[in-house]
Amino acid sequence: MADERAQALQQLAGQVRICLECRLGATRGVAVPGEGPLDAELLWVGEAPGAAEDAAGLPFVGASGRFLRHEMHEAGLDPAAMYITNIVKCRTPGNRRPRVDEIAICTGLYLVRQMALVAPKAVVALGATAAGALLADTVKMTQEHGAWRQDYNLTAQGLPVFITYHPAAALRSERWRAELHADLQALADGRWRMAYG
Ligand code: URA
Repeated sequence: MADERAQALQQLAGQVRICLECRLGATRGVAVPGEGPLDAELLWVGEAPGAAEDAAGLPFVGASGRFLRHEMHEAGLDPAAMYITNIVKCRTPGNRRPRVDEIAICTGLYLVRQMALVAPKAVVALGATAAGALLADTVKMTQEHGAWRQDYNLTAQGLPVFITYHPAAALRSERWRAELHADLQALADGRWRMAYG
């Protein structure tokens, strides 16, 4: 079973790497499927690969990724135990926000299947774009960071979604940095497992 899931996840990554289903296929460097162990308890979702990820083919390896992994360590969360991916798997031109059709195509083809295969206990939405794509109703980040929601937009799985800032946004604001830090500490204390685990 685990072997089959691992194989399916690998196949999916192969499909992502050659994907031309939306316009981003024409401008990206390397598509970035995501990475992490099959039995990850938490699946983290960012917005889209940046320049460093588009060159490396790996998620969150640039400045915001280094900061995110640092914050995970600080909170006592092991980045190597997390499944880390993005709403869209290709870099957007000039790092613009992914468009509605790009999000719909990419999540429908890939993220939904990744979530089903990894079957995490919960999803962490990094930033308003990820949270907005995962959840049915608009997310007001400054009010809802650190909160859990289950008004799921993508599937009927009903996975709980933890909302926090995108690390790139947190790098730009001392206040958001402190709030992201506190959010990850709260996530790491594990009390959510009593409600959702
Ligand atoms: N920002 C994201 O949202 N995802 C990455 O993989 C890198 C930067």
